[in-house]
Amino acid sequence: MPGEAVLDLASGAGEPALSAAKRVGPGGSVHGVDLVEAMLAGAIRRATAFDGPPPLFTVADMTALPFEDGSFDRVTCRFGIMFVPDTKACLAETVRVMRSHGKAAFMVWGPLADNTLFTELDQAVTEVLGEDPNHAIDPLFRFDQPGVLASLLEEAGLRNVTEQSLRPTARVPLDKPFWRASLDMLFAPRLASAPEGDRERINAAVASHFSGVAVEGVCPLHLHARIVSGEMP
Ligand SMILES: C[S@@+](CC[C@H](N)C(=O)[O-])C[C@H]1O[C@@H](n2cnc3c(N)ncnc32)[C@H](O)[C@@H]1O
Repeated sequence: MPGEAVLDLASGAGEPALSAAKRVGPGGSVHGVDLVEAMLAGAIRRATAFDGPPPLFTVADMTALPFEDGSFDRVTCRFGIMFVPDTKACLAETVRVMRSHGKAAFMVWGPLADNTLFTELDQAVTEVLGEDPNHAIDPLFRFDQPGVLASLLEEAGLRNVTEQSLRPTARVPLDKPFWRASLDMLFAPRLASAPEGDRERINAAVASHFSGVAVEGVCPLHLHARIVSGEMP
C-alpha cells in the first residue's frame, strides 16, 4: 500500500523488495536484507537504476535484525525462511520489528513432486552422482505441507493466519538454460565435491530430462508454492 514501510527478508537478487518499492511509492520505504553480501550485488545494481525512491539493501541475518522494535508495516519473505534453521528466532524478530496491525507474508515451496524444475534436476543429478546420503535438498521443502508454517506463525503471536496455495505453470523455451541457477544453488555442495567431468555429465542429463518433458521446444514447468501470512495484534 502507498506510504507503508516494508521489510523484505532474504531479498537475494532483490525480489520482492523492488516490486514493493513501486507499490509503496515516494511516501513509503522498503528495506531488503540478506545474509550473503554477494547475493545482494544484483539487488543493489537494480536499485541504482530504479525509477523513484529505491529500496535499501543491507547484509543482515533475519534471526537478528538490525532494526528498532515496531519499525515496519509489512514484512515479506519469498523463498527464504526454509533456509533458516532457527525458524522461531526469525519469526520472533519479524514480530518484534512490526508495528501493531502490521502484516507478514512468507512464500515457501509446496511438495517437491509438484515442482517440475526441482524434480527433473534432482533426478538428473541422482542419475549421475547417485542418491544423496545427506538429502541436501530436503530442507527446501520443510514447509511443503499445509499448516506447518501457519502453526509457527500463530505460535509467534500472529493472528488471522491464512494460507494460499499457488499452482501456476511457467512455459519456458527449451533452448535457454533456465535451470542453471537452480542447479548451481540447490546442488552446490554435491557439485563442488563431484569428480571432475561429472559436471558435464550432469549438464547433459539435465538437458535430456527437460527435452523429455518439452512440447514443441517449450518446457511446461509446474510450480507449487504457498503463501502463509498473518497479522500483528
Ligand atoms: C532462494 S533465495 C530467495 C531470494 C529472493 N527472495 C527471491 O525470491 O528470488 C534465498 C535467500 O535467502 C538468503 N538467506 C539464507 N539464510 C538467511 C538468513 N539467516 N538471513 C537472511 N537471508 C538468508 C540467502 O542468502 C538467499 O539469498
